[in-house]
Amino acid sequence: MSSEFPVVIYGASGYTGRLVAEYLREYNVPFIAAGRGKERIEEAMAKVPGIETAKYEIATADMEVEALTNLFRGAKVVCNVTGPFVDYGDIVTEAALNAGAHYIDTTGEQPWVKRCADHWDAKFKEAGLVCAPSTAYMYATSEIAAQYALETPGIDTLDVLVLFKGIPTYASTQSFYSVLQHEALYLELGDLKPWTPGTSFEVPIPSEVMTALALPWGGMSHPIWFQRDHRVSSVRAIGGNHSRELMQFVLSATEEFEKDIKPLPADEQKRILSEKADAMQGGMPPRENRREHRTIDIVRGRGSIARSDVTIHGTCAYLQTGLLQAAAAFHLVNAPPFKTGFASPCEAFGHRELYGALSEFGFVNMEIS
Ligand SMILES: NC(=O)c1ccc[n+]([C@@H]2O[C@H](COP(=O)([O-])OP(=O)(O)OC[C@H]3O[C@@H](n4cnc5c(N)ncnc54)[C@H](OP(=O)(O)O)[C@@H]3O)[C@@H](O)[C@H]2O)c1
Repeated sequence: MSSEFPVVIYGASGYTGRLVAEYLREYNVPFIAAGRGKERIEEAMAKVPGIETAKYEIATADMEVEALTNLFRGAKVVCNVTGPFVDYGDIVTEAALNAGAHYIDTTGEQPWVKRCADHWDAKFKEAGLVCAPSTAYMYATSEIAAQYALETPGIDTLDVLVLFKGIPTYASTQSFYSVLQHEALYLELGDLKPWTPGTSFEVPIPSEVMTALALPWGGMSHPIWFQRDHRVSSVRAIGGNHSRELMQFVLSATEEFEKDIKPLPADEQKRILSEKADAMQGGMPPRENRREHRTIDIVRGRGSIARSDVTIHGTCAYLQTGLLQAAAAFHLVNAPPFKTGFASPCEAFGHRELYGALSEFGFVNMEIS
């Protein structure tokens, strides 16, 4: 592939891949819109606002290491937007490493983030490359809040709450169901511990009179990121959608998994979970609306006597994700990452820089107290 195109979006035909293309265009970064089907990629690119002014090419390759290595050769950055990442992440990551490209993705799946930390960290470090999963709304925006909280000396404990409005896409729904097979972990005094399945919390929403139902949501990425940060000993992260109906459905899916599906062999579990996800979300949700699809990311930081509370009011979780991917890719096209090997988005690209990108595009507003 030509090095005129330093970024490859793999999964460009999807809802989020299309948004990554939209913001790469805003950053004037030439890219290859790639995936397994040319027609679907063409259809997706045709819907990108202003696409006529973007410099891009379309390329296809199947989800297979050799084909993807050839596709990525010559690129500086791979933006992987194909989930579930517990299923496909290793293939795309290996191909990026083979091709000598940095790897970023949009996962919200804790087991995949842990896999990057445990398996891919040393290999990417040795190659001088970054592997930064979760460079996405879930959970980079709340990581930004956590990094600001940690600027207060003495903070060692983080409670994270992520709340968004919106309809999960097909692959997001598949991702949610696929993590049910894995333990959801939190960090307590330096050790990762499993949440009790079915744990839920009734949480206040700072800007509303109502409360929301929040769940550990697979454990989220923060416990894995902050286990490697000497300042932090404990992290509990929970999240949810503003729709109580959806959250109650998610909670009952977790309970059903524990009771009826977990006793079955792993392959059978996977098949049933995938079918359930198919039944729940088959189509493409509409483009987000800034006045409707709002987000709130809250971090409460504690030390023995130190305290820092950070709240980020924002909008459009998927649009934020497209922008975060493009801002990270723009950084990598122009400069080395702040950290190589496995890194959180803020470690790789800077919390001030990522906050700057989100706020400059009008997506977020932060309050610190
Ligand atoms: N953490 C966050 O905040 C966040 C935000 C957005 C997305 N995400 C995650 O990102 C992933 C993609 O989300 P999405 O919204 O773009 O979903 P989507 O609209 O369903 O798109 C999925 C993409 O993956 C591709 N794909 C699926 N299976 C594949 C395979 N076996 N081989 C090659 N390509 C394959 C699809 O290609 P085809 O068109 O050919 O089927 C499509 O391009 C999901 O896992 C989701 O959870 C996370």
